[in-house]
Amino acid sequence: MACANFVKLNSASSSWIGQKSPFGQRSQGSSTRRVSFSIRANSYTDELVQTAKSIASPGRGILAIDESNATCGKRLASIGLDNTETNRQAYRQLLLTTPGLGEYISGAILFEETLYQSTTGGKKFVDCLLDENIVPGIKVDKGLVPLPGSNNESWCQGLDGLASRSAEYYKQGARFAKWRTVVSIPCGPSALAVKEAAWGLARYAAISQFGMLVGIFPSKNRLAFIVTKLSSPDKARLHQFLDNGLVPIVEPEILLDGDHPIDRTLEVAEKVWAEVFYYLAENNVVFEGILLKPSMVTPGAEHKEKASPDTIAKYTLTMLKRRVPPAVPGIMFLSGGQSEVQATLNLNAMNQTPNPWHVSFSYARALQNTVLKTWQGRPENVEAAQKSLLVRAKANSLAQLGRYSAEGENEEAKKGMFVKGYTY
Ligand code: 13P
Repeated sequence: MACANFVKLNSASSSWIGQKSPFGQRSQGSSTRRVSFSIRANSYTDELVQTAKSIASPGRGILAIDESNATCGKRLASIGLDNTETNRQAYRQLLLTTPGLGEYISGAILFEETLYQSTTGGKKFVDCLLDENIVPGIKVDKGLVPLPGSNNESWCQGLDGLASRSAEYYKQGARFAKWRTVVSIPCGPSALAVKEAAWGLARYAAISQFGMLVGIFPSKNRLAFIVTKLSSPDKARLHQFLDNGLVPIVEPEILLDGDHPIDRTLEVAEKVWAEVFYYLAENNVVFEGILLKPSMVTPGAEHKEKASPDTIAKYTLTMLKRRVPPAVPGIMFLSGGQSEVQATLNLNAMNQTPNPWHVSFSYARALQNTVLKTWQGRPENVEAAQKSLLVRAKANSLAQLGRYSAEGENEEAKKGMFVKGYTY
């Protein structure tokens, strides 16, 4: 779909940035044709910013349960269950109907199947979340495939059709999105892989935030001109109708794989985030309306020395302060194969002094591990499993506030979950 080379950033000031002004230009020819341009209005940006802020609220973080069906199957297999839709629904129902979850969880990332699913009692999962004041989110990437011409690295698919999919997800109740791509340190990373990861994330982020206006007009400039003539309420209605309106979570996961020291991770993370922000800016992404999902800066999983939470916090915050503008409202870490306790201790260490952004969690494995083991697929264990989810969610809530102590944590929660070349 063709897109105009200008972007309306601020409807109130009518300031257009780009190669040409839409005003005072003659349309080329009188025939009408299908044209489109990307548009963003103040009212809509406000909603994005508000959504991002409410997810990044004190003492709360994200529950990530957006495993693809294949990955969810691996989770179910670990407790001897078949990978059927019924079992996936039962597991997601357990998680999403946990009473009191909203005290610690502000957003939940769902896989497409779950966004459209209901409980066995017929209540939409989206409504279960809204009842707990939890914002529904959706994984929109289509997974990783080999990147030709690279050093055995991968790239993330999913940009084709993303605008229309996002608009559908919005209608279904999603208000934020997630796109996970990966960077492998042992594979280089090559300049090509880093650039591709950063560019893909930036395109996705722009598509998530913007609406695409399509119509039959003499030219895209004519269409843009007509939009400027709409009254504010009409413009707001137009945006409600058209915009994708999803807060993008930007996730370039730097995999734990490797035997490198922590300084090497810092070097790669700085390079990756520099490129990500360069392309986010190039794509006119509103920084106030995004969330980040970085890996913590740690030594490679196979490195001979382990780093303490204080060291990991120091390196990670150094990297973030060098690379992430304070306009970004929230940093929501992934757990990446660390143990539940380790991920929580590291988060706690990062919140000992005030940060320019909300520093919190968006864990999958580090929130779900004990839950799965407690559940074992048995209805009589659902309540205990929900309680164990609350224990982990509360621990991370305390860590977000810098008040967590690992006292009383059980041995199971201290076991690492690192898997080489992990996919999602
Ligand atoms: P974990 O690394 O916390 O398992 O999750 C990764 C992820 O991207 C979930 O959305």
